[in-house]
Amino acid sequence: MLDSLWPPTAVGGISLPYRLVMAPMTRDRSTPEGVPTELNAESDTAELYPALLDALRPLGLAYLHVMHAGDEALLETLRAQWPATLILNRGGTDVPTRAKDIDNGTADLVSVAALALANPDLVERLRAGAELNAPDPATYYGGGAAGYTDYPTYTA
Ligand SMILES: Cc1cc2nc3c(=O)[nH]c(=O)nc-3n(C[C@H](O)[C@H](O)[C@H](O)COP(=O)(O)O)c2cc1C
Repeated sequence: MLDSLWPPTAVGGISLPYRLVMAPMTRDRSTPEGVPTELNAESDTAELYPALLDALRPLGLAYLHVMHAGDEALLETLRAQWPATLILNRGGTDVPTRAKDIDNGTADLVSVAALALANPDLVERLRAGAELNAPDPATYYGGGAAGYTDYPTYTA
């Protein structure tokens, strides 16, 4: 079920062992949805983001990272418009759901944030079919080590 995550790949000349990357570790990304505050709200995503991609495409960027919150038609449009590497963050979904986006060509790589934070050995756990630690949102952005370095690792 997760087989699509494991083939190695390369992005912009950087070799990656898997097709699973940690979302907050990636850089600029195109985010038509999931706005953090009302000040960032956009009402014209269907026009804006295709136009943005038209402008970005000639720049030869290594990848496009899309944070997706449910507009499947827009995602399909962006995929069709982006011939290079597309990293998809299908926030809040489980990992098998994300892996399907590689199988069906929607994404070349998928990113995870909260689950990667809560599972320092996420890849080993997924490969072993082990249970995942549940992320604790109360520790996000805390400014300290709590919630960042203290989740237990998996023991077989
Ligand atoms: C603790 C924490 C820090 C995050 N920091 C960033 C960040 O610096 N930049 C960013 O674009 N997104 C950041 N995010 C958002 C994630 O990249 C991601 O879009 C969101 O958590 C939903 O995806 P997920 O279900 O994989 O966690 C952060 C998320 C968490 C939980």
